[in-house]
Amino acid sequence: MRKIFFYTLLSGFLLSSAAVQAEEVDFEKQIYPFIKSSCVTCHRPPYEETRGTRTRTKKPKAGIILATKEGILSAEGESGQKILVPGDPDKSRMLEVTRLPLDDEMHFPPEGKAPQWTAAEKELFAKWIKEGAKFGSWEADPAPNEGLEWDGKERE
Ligand code: HEC
Repeated sequence: MRKIFFYTLLSGFLLSSAAVQAEEVDFEKQIYPFIKSSCVTCHRPPYEETRGTRTRTKKPKAGIILATKEGILSAEGESGQKILVPGDPDKSRMLEVTRLPLDDEMHFPPEGKAPQWTAAEKELFAKWIKEGAKFGSWEADPAPNEGLEWDGKERE
């Protein structure tokens, strides 16, 4: 009798821990929204901007595009290293720049230009990298120039 009870408990425990492990971070739903709001203003594909009668092509800062899977995976920092290293959050410059002190000139986003990532967002981003930086079926933001307005308030 006691044995049966024990095995019932054990299998319940194994099943529930399997369920927890299966819950991977969903890039499109959980990660991209805060990349978009904090980074894409400056790191989007080239676009035309018209001021008065002049139209100019604006290029992504540092040549880094964070609005497409290919852009994120191929981007390199000044050091020539990939900014995202799947499996290794601590080698991923894309995360590191958000963790540098606010007044460091390589901290991104620059203070006051776009909302900072919250501590919870940085943690979730690290978890996503650790899990192998999987994008699911997401390839690219279909409208990288839309929805970038910011009211100047930081997220909690
Ligand atoms: C207001 C514009 C702006 C925003 C917003 C912005 N960046 Fe950048 N980013 C830049 C500029 C400009 C550079 C080039 C800096 C340089 O080379 O001195 C850069 C460079 C980088 C680099 C390369 C760093 C290196 O080591 O060479 C990374 C990585 C980066 N940004 C990530 C991000 C991430 C992640 C976000 C959002 C959390 C973000 N940026 C938001 C303007 C921006």
